[in-house]
Amino acid sequence: MTSVDVVIMAAGKGTRMKSRLPKVLHRLAGRALLDHVTATVASLKPRSCVVITGHGAPEVEAEMHRWALDTPGIDMQFVRQEPQLGTGHAVQQAAPLLPCDGITLILNGDVPLIAADTLQSLIGQCGGRHMALLTVDMPDPTGYGRIVREAPHADWDGDDLGGGPAADAGARVLAIVEHKDASAAQRAIREIYSGVMAVPTQLLKGWLARLRNDNSQGEYYLTDIVKFAVADGAEVLATCIADRLQVDGVNSPVQLAELERGFQLRQAQALMAQGVRLADPARLDVRGTLACGQDVDIDVNCIFEGRVQLGDGVQVGANCIIANATIAAGAVIHPFTHIDGERAGVTVGEGALVGPFARLRPGAQLGAGVHIGNFVEVKNSTLAAGAKANHLAYLGDATVGERVNYGAGSITANYDGANKHRTVIEADVHIGSNSVLVAPVTIGAGGTVGGGSTITRDTPPGALSVVRGKLISVANWARPAKKTGN
Ligand code: UD1
Ligand code: CA
Repeated sequence: MTSVDVVIMAAGKGTRMKSRLPKVLHRLAGRALLDHVTATVASLKPRSCVVITGHGAPEVEAEMHRWALDTPGIDMQFVRQEPQLGTGHAVQQAAPLLPCDGITLILNGDVPLIAADTLQSLIGQCGGRHMALLTVDMPDPTGYGRIVREAPHADWDGDDLGGGPAADAGARVLAIVEHKDASAAQRAIREIYSGVMAVPTQLLKGWLARLRNDNSQGEYYLTDIVKFAVADGAEVLATCIADRLQVDGVNSPVQLAELERGFQLRQAQALMAQGVRLADPARLDVRGTLACGQDVDIDVNCIFEGRVQLGDGVQVGANCIIANATIAAGAVIHPFTHIDGERAGVTVGEGALVGPFARLRPGAQLGAGVHIGNFVEVKNSTLAAGAKANHLAYLGDATVGERVNYGAGSITANYDGANKHRTVIEADVHIGSNSVLVAPVTIGAGGTVGGGSTITRDTPPGALSVVRGKLISVANWARPAKKTGN
């Protein structure tokens, strides 16, 4: 097997994005466009990978370094292209890093959804001897490079290029002509170059050296190497794939949004194929990985981020955002709940009920059958099986025992302005409404805290603890009356 070296072009400005952010750092499904490409590349285990940077190079390289930390085992190098004189010029910058004995796989950093098996078969076609291009039929090919094939049974006379508008997989490829340089007849061709090719490196280097910029954009077009290959008698193989999503590029916010929807729909279909029931596949966003057990129901407008696991029979109500969390079997997440485990994660136990309008923050660990109701916030706290906090409450840095009932409006005062402290509520405690538990503090097992109490010391097990002003009732109290004018 010939070794594969990858070149990813990511130096362009992305003018049509009209953004300060370099184009390849715009997000698709929560990840930079370039991250999608490098993740796919990593799965191919190439010998090396060169990323060409230019516009916003420091930002792009910093993002890639962060990404590489999570993806060991890929040898990634950066080459800066200054100024950016076109895609051919970009690959010229990488050429000195490419060993002559390999296959160079060239990818665009702004074509994020290319699949590993597609690349693998392109590499196979190249086989270290041929030029292999990936192409696709576009209903609207405006802006793309057209695949010009030999007209079937007609002599190549230079005028009648293309042999008809759609791909004719059999006909010999003669050239790629960029949209701006194309004749009217060539513009009618719908088969376009995807931006992906695999080329024997030795040949590539020779062709790159022959590139000129005498075209309508004054750029060195990588795509011009096709005509050199044809002139040299090398075989140019073009594979037209049906799956457009894989080769759709991002050049504008509209294209980014279209690709996002296309990608999300594909993920929704994959989930449904596993048996997940989605109220509306068009109203689901997965920005990361979502693993589901059997009989999971997800209502409309839910967003899943990072790594999320939903156990058997989990129900997620409408308008929930769930990030980095593990939800055990039978749990119900009611509408408008926000769960974000960040790095620490969130776990929700079997059969727990959460929401509506609940907020679970990093380190929230709910046991089986726990109830968290509306406007309850839980952070870095463990709630043992059967504990309940049903209304308007805060639990931060708390350890809550089994069957505790945490009353409406109660809070753990966990922060003294400098340090965080822990609150321990032992099993079977009842905390009355509107209590303040000033940490560090322990409420002994089976105890009761009277509503409205501010607890500043540990309380003994089994006791009723109340801190409250004495009730005074003034008999026959006459409310002040408004003065009547004279
Ligand atoms: C390119 C192809 C076109 C193809 C299309 C597919 C050329 C000349 N044209 O056109 O045939 O249909 O991709 O999406 O190759 N870049 C650099 N340095 C540069 C210029 C570009 O690194 O000097 C990078 C960009 O960041 C981008 C990629 O190369 O990731 C493609 O550049 P872009 O300007 O978007 O090329 P297109 O005009 O789309
Ligand atoms: Ca492009």
